[in-house]
Amino acid sequence: MDVNLNGKVALVTGVGPNIGSGLALMLGKYGAKVACNDVRPEVAQATVERLERNGVEAMSIPGDVANEEEVKAYVQRVVDEWGRIDILINCAGIDGGASVLEFEGERWTRQIMVNLSGNFFNTKWVARHMVEQEIKGSIICIISTAGWQGRANSVGYCSSKGGIIQFVRASAMDLAPYGIRINSFTPTATQVDNPDILRAREAAGVRGPMGFPPLPGQSPRENAGGQPVEEFRTGGTADFVAMSPLGELPTPTDYGHVVAWMCSDYARLVTGTDWGVDAGALAKYWPYVPPAEKRGPLPLIKMDVSE
Ligand SMILES: NC(=O)c1ccc[n+]([C@@H]2O[C@H](COP(=O)([O-])OP(=O)(O)OC[C@H]3O[C@@H](n4cnc5c(N)ncnc54)[C@H](O)[C@@H]3O)[C@@H](O)[C@H]2O)c1
Repeated sequence: MDVNLNGKVALVTGVGPNIGSGLALMLGKYGAKVACNDVRPEVAQATVERLERNGVEAMSIPGDVANEEEVKAYVQRVVDEWGRIDILINCAGIDGGASVLEFEGERWTRQIMVNLSGNFFNTKWVARHMVEQEIKGSIICIISTAGWQGRANSVGYCSSKGGIIQFVRASAMDLAPYGIRINSFTPTATQVDNPDILRAREAAGVRGPMGFPPLPGQSPRENAGGQPVEEFRTGGTADFVAMSPLGELPTPTDYGHVVAWMCSDYARLVTGTDWGVDAGALAKYWPYVPPAEKRGPLPLIKMDVSE
């Protein structure tokens, strides 16, 4: 009765070293071959190498999710090389932003193009391939708790992530006749567990469960694993761990265990829904402050063997 993705091919967009890389790794550990996309080729390559260190077959497919021609081309590349695509994870995203009073139109447009239209382009071309080959595949769009709640100084981010909720429901109706499933998955503030980042954090003296210094080839702006906190906390504070009902922030590995199940044949009737791993964050009554003393969750079931 073990969940397995043996024989399946997955395409993951935005495989930055935090969540995208973690999801790609987990799909691989559950048995899939994984094509790794990122707009930065060196980032896609770093994830391929992480997967290979873990015994997972992987390929790098760099490209911009917001450019339909590039999406079409890298989807075709995977089909040409591996013959099929069974799983698509739309994970590429740009975090951060500004107040509705300040946000520049150009940044708004780019954020909507990457975070929302990127989901559309990838879903369209992968689903067309699934329809042609009669593959009853699974597509997952990565949202954020900020897609469900209003986060200050994040108007483009919240709007794009909220838009995905309806994109998923509408697409679920279009794809259901073909047996193709599409769901969203909601992560929240994420605890780093990629050994590459943990080493870089240690060297740079970064404390706390989130955040990491730029890795080679990454700009601090895009390296949003710890989120550009100063941009959205203005006028307030955010203590993620203290406000977490379960007292710990989830890791990409926690997400991957659930996402792998969502992509497995056990989830054959799950479509048009949202799943999340947020330690109780979205369920919490908003003024409630959890007690400081908590027993904590069960230990994490780790999957990266390259540490
Ligand atoms: N880290 C968090 O706390 C958190 C919380 C909730 C949701 N999320 C979401 O999870 C996803 C991954 O988050 P992360 O923290 O790992 O972010 P990240 O910034 O570390 O990684 C995102 C990756 O997407 C890539 N990317 C950006 N624009 C792209 C484009 N046009 N085409 C292809 N790739 C592109 C970036 O190069 C980067 O490697 C994002 O969608 C994010 O919104 C993150």
